[in-house]
Amino acid sequence: MAKIPYVVANWKMFKTSREATHYIEELVPLLPKDSFHLYLAVPFTTIASAARFAKDTSIRIGAQNMHDAREGAFTGEIAALMLKEAGASFVLLGHSERRHHFGEEEAFIARKVARALADDIEPILCVGETLEERDHSKEIVERQLRSALEHIPAEDVGALKIAYEPVWAIGTGKHATPNIAEEAHAFCREVLGTLFGEEKAKKIPILYGGSVNQENVHSFLQEPNIDGVLVGGASLDPNHLANIVHRL
Ligand code: PGA
Repeated sequence: MAKIPYVVANWKMFKTSREATHYIEELVPLLPKDSFHLYLAVPFTTIASAARFAKDTSIRIGAQNMHDAREGAFTGEIAALMLKEAGASFVLLGHSERRHHFGEEEAFIARKVARALADDIEPILCVGETLEERDHSKEIVERQLRSALEHIPAEDVGALKIAYEPVWAIGTGKHATPNIAEEAHAFCREVLGTLFGEEKAKKIPILYGGSVNQENVHSFLQEPNIDGVLVGGASLDPNHLANIVHRL
């Protein structure tokens, strides 16, 4: 069965609700008819209006982070159930900007993944090594995967997705080569196999992220273990995002 590729746009801290609705209005008529999964990870305040505008389309709206508790005295934080009610169906977790700018630790990320699965919002767990860690990237990626996932029972991983994003490739214009990415993805799948069994591991989508654009997207999707892409900067323009979807 041919894989249906994923394109996840990570808007980061860009676009107000109003800008998002214009964006979606522009994007929808530009999209191809073929099969693809298109996810937009938008700022919290934009979720509700983006979800309303995307309602009759195949686009899914999600968040870029959440807290691990169901509710509680955590000023400034946001819970999975709040995201869901606002219209989010997925959430990015452990993005390198969360790990590095906000000091998110592995144990916290692990609790968030467990919470997302328990509260029925699809987690996209981001992993990847920094430039300094490049010589031992496998060790880093394995540790990030194991620490986040080792307590999750295999029967609960249905909705889980992984994004491999080498930190040196994020926002730098220096994407990994498809070969390097494929090697990392194959390794991620091997680790997932040891955690959940090979059959489950085969079905977990693994996306590549880091300077993906309309020129390079196709070459990544040719690789057997690359099931889609996570796109930051190049997703901010609806024309560019539509071109990425056309070139899968
Ligand atoms: P980039 O960001 O596409 O701008 O490199 C990717 C990401 O941070 O998810």
